Amino acid sequence: MDRDYPLIHIPDNIPSPCFVIDESAVKNNLTILEDVQTRTGCKILLALKAFALFDLFPVLRNTLKGVCAGSSHEARLGKEEFGRQVHTFAVAYSEPDFRDIIKFSDYVTFNSFSMWHRFKYIINQAKKEIKCGIRVNPEHSEVMTALYDPCAPESRLGMRRSQFNGESLKGITGIHLHTLCEQNADALERTLKVFETGFKDMLNNITWLNLGGGHHITRDDYDIDLLCHIINRLKRQYNVEIYLEPGEAVVLNAGVLIGTVLDIVYNDINIAILDISAATHMPDVLEMPYRPGVHGSGLAGEKAYTCRLAGPSCLAGDIIGDYSFDKELKVGSKVIFLDMAHYTMVKTNTFNGINLPSIACYNPLNNAFKIIRSFGYEDFKNRLS
Ligand SMILES: Cc1ncc(COP(=O)(O)O)c(C=O)c1O
Repeated sequence: MDRDYPLIHIPDNIPSPCFVIDESAVKNNLTILEDVQTRTGCKILLALKAFALFDLFPVLRNTLKGVCAGSSHEARLGKEEFGRQVHTFAVAYSEPDFRDIIKFSDYVTFNSFSMWHRFKYIINQAKKEIKCGIRVNPEHSEVMTALYDPCAPESRLGMRRSQFNGESLKGITGIHLHTLCEQNADALERTLKVFETGFKDMLNNITWLNLGGGHHITRDDYDIDLLCHIINRLKRQYNVEIYLEPGEAVVLNAGVLIGTVLDIVYNDINIAILDISAATHMPDVLEMPYRPGVHGSGLAGEKAYTCRLAGPSCLAGDIIGDYSFDKELKVGSKVIFLDMAHYTMVKTNTFNGINLPSIACYNPLNNAFKIIRSFGYEDFKNRLS
């Protein structure tokens, strides 16, 4: 569903394409997350895989207690630029990567007992305390799309209850659980019911429980009371510290991607070719797939002028979707894609030599834009040789 967006005065000199992050919207999300922390004493971490614009870390670290990283590079970015706790989980570690990861991490979670057995000697040799956890698969699916369901049949993510049999938890102080995607607290409640039944004996032997990401806490209809109730109960019942590591919720509805129409072609439908490519700038549009919201648009046929929005790459399927507008789009018209702060900027690529969008911050209080980064030929070239 398209959501109206306060960003209406786009200055003429804003580069195109450009991600624009709305700082006040980020702060509104942080206020909600702060409320959850205050009511429960839980610690909320930023999932860097969703949002890693470190220019904004000074704002984020006023509220969030640290980051969750999925690689040595993310762990390093978290330690050097965010500067609070770094919790790292990756599906598998190479030894060089793992040695780097422990330099920058305070918590490390293993996806399997074999990884834990292979690397615990490195943990034991470390000069600082690193808390170790194991990721579990509670075998309860709440996500309907297999691509995003960590509990799908034959999933490689996390250890099932039966795989704990015969394993010692000596050295493991926490459990990590990530099973949700854009979900409300009722999905967490159902998941925990299954998880707690299966893993009850272990819950009394750990000191921290990480409930992963996928909690859509900053969405209007999210049941914050239920989330707080769940967290407070878990803390009381098992005497554990609770971590949440949302990505999307931290910057939900807090950024747009602004592009420009380069050409209009016709083949049974008007097709506006933009300087924004689904393949290079919004890969989730093709991967998920989904139809991003566009400011001022309706479904095809709903408004006076219907057209397909498409990208400039050579990929035949570089199609963003069909939309309608009150007025005809023309060469030079601006198109604003909504809710683009999470999982977009971090996933862009330079396929076909297409330039990366610039990155800017917007402060609606004084209507000020700050260009944080622009890209060019060197960024494309330097990745290739
Ligand atoms: C282990 C883990 N933690 C946290 C997240 C963040 O999830 P979200 O951005 O949906 O809140 C993800 C996303 O895939 C994840 O895999």
